[in-house]
Amino acid sequence: MEFFRSLSTFTALLVFLLSCFSFSSTDAFDALDPNGNITIKWDVINWTPDGYVAVVTMFNFQQYRHIQAPGWTLGWTWAKKEVIWNMMGAQTTEQGDCSKFKGNIPHCCKKDPTVVDLLPGTPYNQQIANCCKGGVINSWGQDPETAVSSFQVSVGAAGTTNKTVRVPKNFTLKAPGPGYTCGPAKIVKPTKFVTNDGRRATQAMMTWNVTCTYSQFLAQKTPTCCVSLSSFYNDTIVPCPTCTCGCQKNGTQHGNCVDQDEPHLASVVSGLGKNNYAPLVQCTSHMCPIRIHWHVKLNYKEYWRVKVTITNFNYNMNYTQWNLVVQHPNFDNLTQLFSFHYKSLTPYGAINDTAMLWGMKFYNDLLMQAGPLGNVQSELLFRKDLSTFTFEKGWAFPRRVYFNGDNCVMPPPDSYPYMPNAGNIWKVSLLKLVVTLMLSTLLFFALV
Ligand SMILES: *[C@@H]1O[C@H](CO)[C@@H](O)[C@H](O)[C@H]1NC(C)=O
Ligand SMILES: *[C@@H]1O[C@H](CO)[C@@H](O)[C@H](O)[C@H]1NC(C)=O
Ligand SMILES: *[C@@H]1O[C@H](CO)[C@@H](O)[C@H](O)[C@H]1NC(C)=O
Ligand SMILES: *[C@@H]1O[C@H](CO)[C@@H](O)[C@H](O)[C@H]1NC(C)=O
Ligand SMILES: *[C@@H]1O[C@H](CO)[C@@H](O)[C@H](O)[C@H]1NC(C)=O
Ligand SMILES: *[C@@H]1O[C@H](CO)[C@@H](O)[C@H](O)[C@H]1NC(C)=O
Ligand SMILES: *[C@@H]1O[C@H](CO)[C@@H](O)[C@H](O)[C@H]1NC(C)=O
Ligand SMILES: *[C@@H]1O[C@H](CO)[C@@H](O)[C@H](O)[C@H]1NC(C)=O
Ligand SMILES: *[C@@H]1O[C@H](CO)[C@@H](O)[C@H](O)[C@H]1NC(C)=O
Repeated sequence: MEFFRSLSTFTALLVFLLSCFSFSSTDAFDALDPNGNITIKWDVINWTPDGYVAVVTMFNFQQYRHIQAPGWTLGWTWAKKEVIWNMMGAQTTEQGDCSKFKGNIPHCCKKDPTVVDLLPGTPYNQQIANCCKGGVINSWGQDPETAVSSFQVSVGAAGTTNKTVRVPKNFTLKAPGPGYTCGPAKIVKPTKFVTNDGRRATQAMMTWNVTCTYSQFLAQKTPTCCVSLSSFYNDTIVPCPTCTCGCQKNGTQHGNCVDQDEPHLASVVSGLGKNNYAPLVQCTSHMCPIRIHWHVKLNYKEYWRVKVTITNFNYNMNYTQWNLVVQHPNFDNLTQLFSFHYKSLTPYGAINDTAMLWGMKFYNDLLMQAGPLGNVQSELLFRKDLSTFTFEKGWAFPRRVYFNGDNCVMPPPDSYPYMPNAGNIWKVSLLKLVVTLMLSTLLFFALV
């Protein structure tokens, strides 16, 4: 019996280790969203005398990773000497050197154009469907209707048949920072467009797809969020691990963070005003832009209740359409949820232990920058499954938490608040401690 238990622990360890190694490689694999990707589709809808007109559509097929303001940036390298005569629904950031042209001047002559979405409120004659949202794209899990972004591009000095045209190369997608890796463009079966009444289908002249995937390790070297824990049965509040996302500079000059009580706080912060990729955080021991607090609040006969609070410590970001992914074995019996939307994620079919949570429109879908308004919260009511339910061994705490698709750092398992007089708790936490130490050592070597 003991032998089988250690065997299963060993197997679990092995699986976990393997997943750690695949996380650390740059070919992004996310166990909770194994097929997540952004697909960029180019449909050539017309050949022109010197090139073609294409509609470019980006589909965010990721369950919970969206692109928020200031939005996406898409770049590529032309295969030959192509130019962009004009664009609808987007623009290039630079025109480049068009000095060879007289009269009719292209929109962009750069070999490697960089394209950004237009802003809401763009005149109708420059719009196309699904454009002009300032580069914001929702996730597929949150809302497939708004998980698409499109623009139209007229390309000159290009091939004018499917034999002579050359597909662009080296696609780069920023959202807005790094993190995505795009594969080569693949020529696929031309898209069929069916009319609204379903009575006629037209067809693209030619179609190619580019697939981009995300890796948290490419996006930033340090974590972006952490988890703290507390419970009604123990006064200890287990904070985020110290220096999770960085360390405060030593000494009186903070430099890399803003002190909440600083007299000049208002002047430091008011100069910012717009979402910025680089965080400016409030000084805390963990230095994370985001903290998720999980409080085990109440125990009823058949139910138990959790309060979840998300706190923003970043003065540089209002998080729009934020989302949270939480893994806990009791999510198969979530009975009630207050003021958040819920969707179960079941990438492996039968196992229903992962929830995606996000805010309600116009109520709490905006997580305000650091300050008194910079938090959102909800309560979850779970129905106990008496065969598995326990307050011991940290069972009531989440196994994994993601904020906006990034893995949040949990406190070490041996520090979890525990029940007074819990029987064999020491044996278990000691084993966990050893395992954690082993894992962190191995993980450290895997990452360097
Ligand atoms: C991209 O995501 C879609 C939808 O989940 C999936 O059907 C497709 O196979 C994915 N593509 C790649 C290359 O992973
Ligand atoms: C080009 O178009 C012709 C005719 O429609 C088709 O038979 C051929 O497969 C296409 N070639 C490519 C590379 O798409
Ligand atoms: C595309 O990127 C690769 C690697 O970064 C580079 O070697 C190659 O020259 C690039 N191609 C073009 C056309 O820029
Ligand atoms: C190309 O992308 C479109 C849109 O995501 C998808 O419907 C189509 O199946 C893709 N084609 C291939 C061959 O992956
Ligand atoms: C600064 O670092 C020194 C040595 O590392 C330490 O002794 C001291 O307490 C630190 N001061 C603060 C304010 O953290
Ligand atoms: C966040 O929103 C508030 C209210 O709309 C605004 O005053 C503030 O400048 C915004 N902050 C950032 C970083 O965009
Ligand atoms: C998972 O469990 C929750 C709570 O019982 C339920 O609402 C949801 O529909 C389940 N999802 C699946 C895919 O079974
Ligand atoms: C929820 O809990 C009840 C009572 O323990 C149990 O009978 C039921 O099977 C559970 N539902 C799911 C989806 O696990
Ligand atoms: C609460 O949990 C902590 C571990 O985080 C432990 O050190 C402490 O003794 C516990 N308190 C009680 C009253 O059991």
